[in-house]
Amino acid sequence: EKVIFNGSITERSQLNIDIEDRGYQFGDGVYEVIRVYNRSLFTGEEHLQRLIDSAESIQIKIPYTIAEMKNLLLKLIEENNLFLGIIYLQITRGVSQRTHLFPSADVEPSFVAYTRELQSPTEAMEKGVTAITVEDIRWLRCDIKSLNLLPNLLAKQKASEAGCFEALQHRNGIVTEGSSSNVSIVVDGKIKTHPATNLILNGITRQVIVDICLKNGLEIIEEEFSVDEMLQADEIFLSGTTTEIMPIIEIDKQKIEKGEPGPVTKKLQALFNEEIK
Ligand code: PDD
Repeated sequence: EKVIFNGSITERSQLNIDIEDRGYQFGDGVYEVIRVYNRSLFTGEEHLQRLIDSAESIQIKIPYTIAEMKNLLLKLIEENNLFLGIIYLQITRGVSQRTHLFPSADVEPSFVAYTRELQSPTEAMEKGVTAITVEDIRWLRCDIKSLNLLPNLLAKQKASEAGCFEALQHRNGIVTEGSSSNVSIVVDGKIKTHPATNLILNGITRQVIVDICLKNGLEIIEEEFSVDEMLQADEIFLSGTTTEIMPIIEIDKQKIEKGEPGPVTKKLQALFNEEIK
């Protein structure tokens, strides 16, 4: 298995990550997950741009251009013969003696990427999944795709222990997003999703959905909605790189409408499938 380490492709088994890597000690870095459909990157440039933006907002300068990273990723897909899956990428502030302060400017960031085979969650997308609601206890820069995912992990674990797929987070009664996905509701045929503020990650899938809606005359508004509004909605769906478009049919043991995927969600799934072909 091949991986990318600091600008070149190497064997995973040859890789040495130092115990004083800032990512390992502090979660001092950012990451991306990119879908590979049919051996090619789906919305690769958007993800790489977001990686650059996330890094910049914590003052990490990525020493590669989008084109350089894209070339490396395509080479990695080829080397690992990946047909359907994901690429995980992360960049940390690099290796230096542990201190809360940033290391000196000559310390190079550590960049890694690897591939994994992953099917689309077809069955779950057809049937729909269940969710719980949890308080959003994260920081106020959820727009940065930071490695610090503890609150997200706690939320997802809680969902799993309740037999559910996802935890829907809310702050002061307003639904923000899932633990690793964005969430949208459908009311009277209109789609609503949280605006791309500092309180959510502006999902690439979410942006693809907005574009699909604009292209196909579906109404979508980026506006806050409350937990109560969500529970009363006609349809609810998650979106994300690995999640794709996932109907939610039950929240906190309460059925959403008839407790099955609704027509707007199904239509979006069909249009999304056209995009990824
Ligand atoms: N998660 N919100 C959060 C908190 C996320 O972690 C993710 C993605 C999304 C959806 O973003 P996108 O459509 O760009 O994948 C929203 C990735 C897949 C993960 O952590 O595995």
